Amino acid sequence: MSDLAGRFRELWDEIAPVGRDAGSGGYLRYALTPPELRLREWFRAQADLRGMPVSGDGNGNLFAWWGEPNTGGPNTGGPAGTGAVLTGSHFDSVPHGGAYDGPLGIVSALLAVDELRAAGVTPVRPVVVAAFVEEEGARFGVPCLGSRLLTGEIDADRAAGLRDAAGVSFAEALGHRPAGADPALLGRFTAFVELHIEQGRALVDADAPVAVGSAIWPHGRWRFELRGEGNHAGTTRMGDRRDPMLTFAFTVLAANKEARLRYAHATVGRVAVEPNATNAIPSTVTGWLDARAAAPDTLHDLVEAVRAKAAERARRDGTELTVTRESATPLVTFDGGLADRLAGLLGAPVLPTGAGHDAGVLAAHLPTAMLFVRNPTGVSHSPAESATDDDCAAGVVALARVLEELACH
Ligand code: GLV
Ligand code: MN
Ligand code: MN
Repeated sequence: MSDLAGRFRELWDEIAPVGRDAGSGGYLRYALTPPELRLREWFRAQADLRGMPVSGDGNGNLFAWWGEPNTGGPNTGGPAGTGAVLTGSHFDSVPHGGAYDGPLGIVSALLAVDELRAAGVTPVRPVVVAAFVEEEGARFGVPCLGSRLLTGEIDADRAAGLRDAAGVSFAEALGHRPAGADPALLGRFTAFVELHIEQGRALVDADAPVAVGSAIWPHGRWRFELRGEGNHAGTTRMGDRRDPMLTFAFTVLAANKEARLRYAHATVGRVAVEPNATNAIPSTVTGWLDARAAAPDTLHDLVEAVRAKAAERARRDGTELTVTRESATPLVTFDGGLADRLAGLLGAPVLPTGAGHDAGVLAAHLPTAMLFVRNPTGVSHSPAESATDDDCAAGVVALARVLEELACH
């Protein structure tokens, strides 16, 4: 193991137990809950150790600055710390998620700063390490909530009113109404580079530890609410039932079929049943459709086809259907010039991804790139997600080279 891989392991071990479920081995690090708050405190402490002042944006996102954030001093390349290079990722997880999705980008960024410092490199423009809030949308339903707020892609009042499963609003969890778009802060950044665990096996196939991202498939979340008639499981004749579970089951199968027909992805990974009793026909079944495709038209056609099939089945079952789009992320094509430049610099392959990222939101506002680190299992959003310490060290070296290229010349 290299020295850097050893330092990666030391830092990684500090956060590894935080929010880990002993049963599944996966993580329960929902935004602004105690495990994620502990990680944010850890982030502040790490920034402090490195003499990096931490600022917030009033939306729950944190920024640790190497170089002067506010003063326009000699290292800032301009007034009020403009031209800064942003990196980082998120701490929050999906339910029983893997260790790497998110935290790898933050830990790697801190270590990349250490590498540059140890090499005697001084940034001409600030390097800023971000910890974005609620990237997964696992608590409040909208993914990339922090970056959407910062960029104004979601209205602050709508975000404030989003509620978790216990009825706590985002504003209550944050302790105040989110501040919303901050064009002045965004304007200080000249580029964003998010390092992330790969969420597939393309790098295993390519036999390479690190890749550069080219694009993110358009994707979104749709809530399918199906209402029928709650009734007794033993006494209601089969022909008299209005059972929304039947409509739901058909909808799940239709989503799978319609996605396969289009070489797209459709998943129903979450369902809520009322009253959720073994001996009662449900009154309501709500399922969340996550749909993704290579092209926006394909995604649109996919969702419309699932909606049409669900509606047709609802007519046959005597149930009622309401479909609500909860979030949408358009096709993201990362800055081609930047991706080519970084791929050339690193000698790395270039890959698209079907996963969403804060980088996808920020890409509409500033030149943005992603680096992916090889994941031997190819599994993500699951405890089986993995990376070797040596590959994580290779990711740190790659990120340090990129930061040097963008912030130090
Ligand atoms: C985030 O990881 C997503 O792709 O949903
Ligand atoms: Mn994720
Ligand atoms: Mn992620």
